[in-house]
Amino acid sequence: MKIGIILYSQTGNTRSTAVVLKEKLAESGHSVQIEEIIAEVPAEKGKKPVNLVSVPDASAYDGLVLAGQVQAFALSSVMKAYLQQLSSLDGKKTALLVTKHFNNNWTGGSSALRRMKAAVESHGGTVAAEGIVHWSSKTREQEIEAVTDLISSAFSIQN
Ligand SMILES: Cc1cc2nc3c(=O)[nH]c(=O)nc-3n(C[C@H](O)[C@H](O)[C@H](O)COP(=O)(O)O)c2cc1C
Repeated sequence: MKIGIILYSQTGNTRSTAVVLKEKLAESGHSVQIEEIIAEVPAEKGKKPVNLVSVPDASAYDGLVLAGQVQAFALSSVMKAYLQQLSSLDGKKTALLVTKHFNNNWTGGSSALRRMKAAVESHGGTVAAEGIVHWSSKTREQEIEAVTDLISSAFSIQN
């Protein structure tokens, strides 16, 4: 399957997790490309409306991973802006990945996943797997392994 990992990363955490995922998906025989969403100003500057200067084309892939980070207890504004311009996902298998600092899900992790899932489903895509990596967790490396294994396996199941 041709899989696109479309991500927004400001300080590299989401990007480095995506690289681990890319390797696993490639080992499973998929053709995988990482593409980055780039905004004119970083999400933390909070400028609205967000002006995207690089907008990866989700339609180029059979399968999709959307990976983003939490800011201010929610999905970062740059990923929100990307989701707003999505075109039809037409049954596309999609996985969601979120990184965040705090070692719990109520400080933005669950909310970020909900936001991404709603956007994918409203554009006709199906969410096959989702996961959160808590960057401050003592078991972060195990979390990265578990989340990337989960997502990678989801793309190996036929449906
Ligand atoms: C302005 C700002 C706000 C943040 N707000 C939260 C937050 O509400 N909850 C949380 O768990 N992490 C928060 N973080 C931490 C990031 O989500 C975390 O470091 C994430 O892994 C960054 O991903 P990146 O390195 O791919 O940009 C915030 C970071 C920044 C810069």
